[in-house]
Parts: sequence; C-alpha cells; structure tokens
Amino acid sequence: MKVLVTYFSQSGNTEKIAKAICEQAARTNEAELKKLEDITPDDAAGYDFIFIGSPLHSGSMAAPVKEFSGLIQASSGQKIAGFITHFAQGYPEQDMDGFTEPIKAACKEKGIEYQGCFDCQGALTESLHGAVQKKLNLTDEQWADMVKQMTGHPNKKDEEKAKAFAKTILA
Ligand SMILES: Cc1cc2nc3c(=O)[nH]c(=O)nc-3n(C[C@H](O)[C@H](O)[C@H](O)COP(=O)(O)O)c2cc1C
Repeated sequence: MKVLVTYFSQSGNTEKIAKAICEQAARTNEAELKKLEDITPDDAAGYDFIFIGSPLHSGSMAAPVKEFSGLIQASSGQKIAGFITHFAQGYPEQDMDGFTEPIKAACKEKGIEYQGCFDCQGALTESLHGAVQKKLNLTDEQWADMVKQMTGHPNKKDEEKAKAFAKTILA
C-alpha cells in the first residue's frame, strides 16, 4: 500500500507523532512523510492511505489542516486517519468527535473510509504559558500542575501508542 503521513506542526509535537506513525507504516508499506505545507490537496490522490496530523488550536484542528481536508483530492477506495496533539491531558470522546469533524466531513463527501484518530498530549510552547494560564483563569499552583502533566509529551510511550494505532488500522 502507498501511505502518506502529512502533518502541520509549529513546535514539533505533532511532527514527533507523524514520524512515529510513518516509521510504523514503513515496516509493511511504501510510506512517505510530508509537511502539509510541502504538498497540495491534489497530491493525496496518489495514496491508498493518508494520515493527517494537527495540533489542537482553540478546540479545533489547525486552520491549514481544516483547509487541506476540505480540498483533499482523494476518492472512494482510499482511507484516511487523523492524529492530534493537545496540551490538555485528555478530552472526552464527544469532544474528540467534534475536533475530527473536518476530516470526517471530507471522507463523507468523497466516499473515503475514515479510520479514526489518535490523540495524545503535546506540551504547550513556553512563550504561550502566561497567556494560556490567564485565559484559563488558573492560579500559579493549578498552572504548575498542568505544566507538570504536559512536560515531556509527546514522550516515548505516546510514540509507541501512535505506532500501535497505525499498526492496527493498517493491518
Ligand atoms: C494558538 C494555539 C491554540 C491552542 N489551543 C489549544 C486547545 O484549545 N487545547 C489544547 O489542549 N491545546 C491547545 N494548544 C496546544 C497545542 O495543541 C499543543 O501544544 C500541540 O502539541 C502543539 O503541537 P505542535 O508542536 O505540533 O505545533 C494550542 C496551541 C496554540 C499555539
């Protein structure tokens, strides 16, 4: 199978997961890793399976990922899965369902098989800590707890989980 792993990543977290998924995919497939900005939605047509990765931005997939998903040139017979990183420890299934809507809508419109979405924590870039603490209205203590939780993610365990997800859906 020809597999494309494409992603948008500003501080490297989603890229880490993309690399893990591509490494796994390459064990049994012809797999390519490409930054979203290096491809066009038309390029998707050449692959059997496409993984699309995004950081969570204000409770939504990043704008370039949403745009790409809406324009993707893929068709019936192809398969798509998503992956998302976010600083929050975890989100309820219902929220994750909402976050992945842009990909699911594209799949529905084009008859592509949606294969699910992997998600894990990804530490928030330090330059945004002050603004986010303020926005969430957290005390220094609460924020310190949150930072403790997110620091180091995605870690090796997250990468292994991403690989296991890819292995299962590519089987
Ligand atoms: C503008 C912006 C908005 C964000 N909004 C959220 C959010 O709503 N929920 C969340 O859990 N993380 C949010 N984050 C954190 C990122 O999703 C997280 O750190 C992610 O792992 C970054 O991935 P990257 O390194 O691939 O860019 C936001 C980050 C940025 C820069």
